[in-house]
This record gives sequence, structure tokens and C-alpha cells, in this order.
Amino acid sequence: MRSIRAAVFASGTGSNFEAIMREGNLGCDIKLLVCDQPEAQVIEKAAAFSVPTYVAEPKKFASKEAYESSILRRLQEEEITWVFLAGYMRMIGKTLLDSYEGKIINIHPSLLPAFPGIDAIGQAYQAGVKKTGVTVHYVDEGMDTGPIIAQEEVEILPNDTIDSLKTRIQAIEHRLYSRVIKKLVKRDE
Ligand code: GAR
Repeated sequence: MRSIRAAVFASGTGSNFEAIMREGNLGCDIKLLVCDQPEAQVIEKAAAFSVPTYVAEPKKFASKEAYESSILRRLQEEEITWVFLAGYMRMIGKTLLDSYEGKIINIHPSLLPAFPGIDAIGQAYQAGVKKTGVTVHYVDEGMDTGPIIAQEEVEILPNDTIDSLKTRIQAIEHRLYSRVIKKLVKRDE
């Protein structure tokens, strides 16, 4: 049987990308990394796993539509059917959403709808809430909106620093994302 082909979109460090790649039993193959930041660490990580990277810088395109159309062409060339956002710090527009309806998911380090956007861990910490967590959700045109697929809570302890909290949240992200991916792609088999 032919394998399910997926792409990861990322902008930064790539710890979630790495965790996905290390999962031996994902049920799909990561055939492409799409990255909007030419200096991002995740690009080296992809090379280490022999995953090709398509670097597309939005400022080099005339419009968001042109930017996403170039990504879309590459996804189609690679016959990608699933897209996993892993620290991709950009909104997905109509061009990609229309072509990958229900096939783009995102991981976010808070219990959405609380603390969307950037620095969700810092936002929760500063707000003084007692718990935060991790959410995996389908992507729509909003920022960290879209139907929730899975959530896991993390307690914020009295002696937590942002760094200690981030370590616990990321450990959960690295487990949860692969687990969700596995379940979703299984339905395509
Ligand atoms: C992760 O914590 C991810 O949940 C978050 O960016 C980080 C990327 O880390 N995503 C968002 O905040 C999306 N709004 P990584 O590059 O080490 O995987």
C-alpha cells in the first residue's frame, strides 16, 4: 500500500518537528518541511533526517496569495495530503485552506481558546492562571482558532519559572502531536 505523504510547516527551533520525526510509527511519511525563515534551526534538523526543505520567504512574493500558491505547487508536486503546523508563526490563508480543507492541523502551547497568538506560555504565566496546557486543532482562517481535536492540561506550580513551565509544556507537545497525527491519518488508510 502507498504511504500517506505529509508536510510539516515550521518557523523556528523545530523541537516538535524533531519529535514527529523520531516517532517510529506515525502512520505517514514526512516528505517536506516548509519554512518561512531562511535562518531557522529547523532547516538543519530536516537535513539531518534527509527531509527536503522548501524555504519560502513571504517578502519575496507580491502577495500572500502568490506566496501560498508557490507553497501549494510544491505540496502538490510532492503529493502531500496532510499538513502539520509545528511552530509556523504565520496565518494560513485561503489559497492553502481551500486546497487542504480539514487536512491542516496546528499545535499550540495553551488551552485554547485561552492565550492564542505568540508567546502563549508567557501570556499564561503572566496572567497568573493555575493551569494551562497544549491544544491540537484543525486550522481555519483565524489565529489559533478552528475545531479542537485534543487538549492536555499542565498545572502552573507556585515555584515555576517561564522556562520550567515551557519544559513541561514542550514535553507534552512532543508526545501529544504524534499521538494525534497517528489517529487522524489512520482514517485515510
Ligand atoms: C511550540 O511550542 C508550538 O506549540 C508553538 O511554537 C512552538 C514551536 O517550538 N506554536 C504556536 O505558538 C502557534 N501559535 P518548536 O519550534 O521547538 O517546535
